[in-house]
Amino acid sequence: MKNESHCSSTQVIPETGILPVHVAIIMDGNGRWAKKNGLPRIAGHKRGLESVRTVVKACVNKGIPYLTLFAFSSENWRRPPTEVHLLMELFANALESKAKKLNDNDVCLRVVGDTTRFSSKIRMLINRAENLTRDNEKLNLTVAANYGGRWDISQACQKICAEIRVGNINPDEVVEQDIKARLSTRFLPEPDLFIRTGGEKRISNFLLWQLAYTELYFTDTLWPEFDNEAFDRALRSFTKRQRRFGQTGDQVIGAQQIKNA
Ligand code: IPE
Ligand code: IPE
Ligand code: MG
Repeated sequence: MKNESHCSSTQVIPETGILPVHVAIIMDGNGRWAKKNGLPRIAGHKRGLESVRTVVKACVNKGIPYLTLFAFSSENWRRPPTEVHLLMELFANALESKAKKLNDNDVCLRVVGDTTRFSSKIRMLINRAENLTRDNEKLNLTVAANYGGRWDISQACQKICAEIRVGNINPDEVVEQDIKARLSTRFLPEPDLFIRTGGEKRISNFLLWQLAYTELYFTDTLWPEFDNEAFDRALRSFTKRQRRFGQTGDQVIGAQQIKNA
């Protein structure tokens, strides 16, 4: 995928009634789905991969070019060691078995997060899948793994500090754009639609900076049950919203009328 520069969505007001360009999802509820079905938690995570497939396909078919999925948070290491171990195994298997399929479907895969904490095998599989799919253009699929919004902002600040030290940046002139350009998601436009499944109404340290003006959608549907219909419901909810970015509703309608005239 070519590196494109996108205007920050807090500066450019997109049209109302159209599909989102970038959808970001917290895939939550795997454990509860497993419990409800009398299965071990890992069965819920495995089943969750089916929903990943559904949503990836749907984005490809609908022409939604950016999809970001929260797969493992920087706080998820606090889970029982066996669950963490099984999740790592699942991640490695998925990277290994799905890379070719993603490539065949013109999907560009990227992993964001502090990958230094992963095993060398997982890091190798990430590199391999990213390199294999790097020139694909149909869908930018970003997987957030060992990701934390606070980590992302902190590592961007560290990079800025390092550049200040060598004289590349004047500390008095640091602006939003300098931080944005050093986030792990710098190659993505800001998300238009955020979806969290599983009923919780929180961000759980996902894209803290990037979600500043994202439309938020929460559903009780558990991630393994999130199907095409559930995704369509989220998209319909999005298309009905008026994004104002600080302006009044009349200003937004006026600007749209001028554009469509
Ligand atoms: C989300 O499902 C997947 C990960 C965090 C890895 P959960 O495992 O959090 O499912 P619940 O919240 O326990 O149902
Ligand atoms: C958020 O889900 C992380 C992922 C889906 C990867 P959690 O289930 O870990 O979130 P909390 O702990 O309930 O906030
Ligand atoms: Mg959860």
